[in-house]
Amino acid sequence: MKVALVTGGSRGIGRAVCVKFAAEGYHVLVNYVSNDAAAQETLAQMQQAADARDLSGGSPAGELLKFDVADYEATANAIGDWQNANPGEYISVLVNNAGIRKDNLLLWMEPDEWYKVLRTNLDSFYNVSKQLIQPMVVHRGGRIINVASLSGLKGLPGQTNYSAAKGGLIAATKALAQEVAARKVTVNAVAPGFIATDMVDGLDTEELAKTIPARRFGKPEEVAELVAFLASDKASYINGEVISINGAIY
Ligand code: NAI
Repeated sequence: MKVALVTGGSRGIGRAVCVKFAAEGYHVLVNYVSNDAAAQETLAQMQQAADARDLSGGSPAGELLKFDVADYEATANAIGDWQNANPGEYISVLVNNAGIRKDNLLLWMEPDEWYKVLRTNLDSFYNVSKQLIQPMVVHRGGRIINVASLSGLKGLPGQTNYSAAKGGLIAATKALAQEVAARKVTVNAVAPGFIATDMVDGLDTEELAKTIPARRFGKPEEVAELVAFLASDKASYINGEVISINGAIY
């Protein structure tokens, strides 16, 4: 079976990626940190998508893998336990999607706002990828797709913490790609602009949409299409790249 791990898969972009992967026949490991009901809903939508395409053959489209990506030990233990329970399998696709934002002007930013955003958006890349990169190299095949942001490309005021984390993630993408390309592993990033998810709750969406040349927010499903393409065999020569998906805002 082809196994994909999606971090932060309980809602938003992560959920859309999980459902898309299930519709393509992957066995999807849905990581999340706290919202059990939302994660169960992702699982149900995945099963529906797989069954609709007659791809699950009665077996589950995936499973939940609850751990905090900001915590190295917890991440290593959860993935290690899964691997021990499934000795014949390996995770060939990783989508580092989990993320948070805690916006503030640097002038007012408390240490916790800086460090929590860095830990969740950037340290998580190390915590999760570190567990999976060796099996990918050994099997001579793998895909890592990092969900970065417009903020990591141009920097956005009020988001020095988030911009730093996503900018770091983009640089790490390019570096790791060069380390593993010879082993047929690709590492790419997607950089969404404004996507309609819970993360943008509280923003003035009508006013912001006027600043986007496409005049609308993107949909999680549109990001999932791009991620699924990068995960596919068709994208095997795209490596170390960051692809914007932002309605021409940048
Ligand atoms: P969301 O807030 O709807 O979903 C975030 C997901 O991450 C949730 O499933 C949550 O459980 C999970 N998560 C958060 N902290 C975690 C932790 N410590 N361990 C494990 N899981 C954790 O957000 P959305 O919009 O779906 O964002 C997904 C990714 O896309 C994030 O990395 C975000 O930075 C990025 N992004 C979002 C944009 C947007 O406009 N919505 C724009 C650009 C990037």
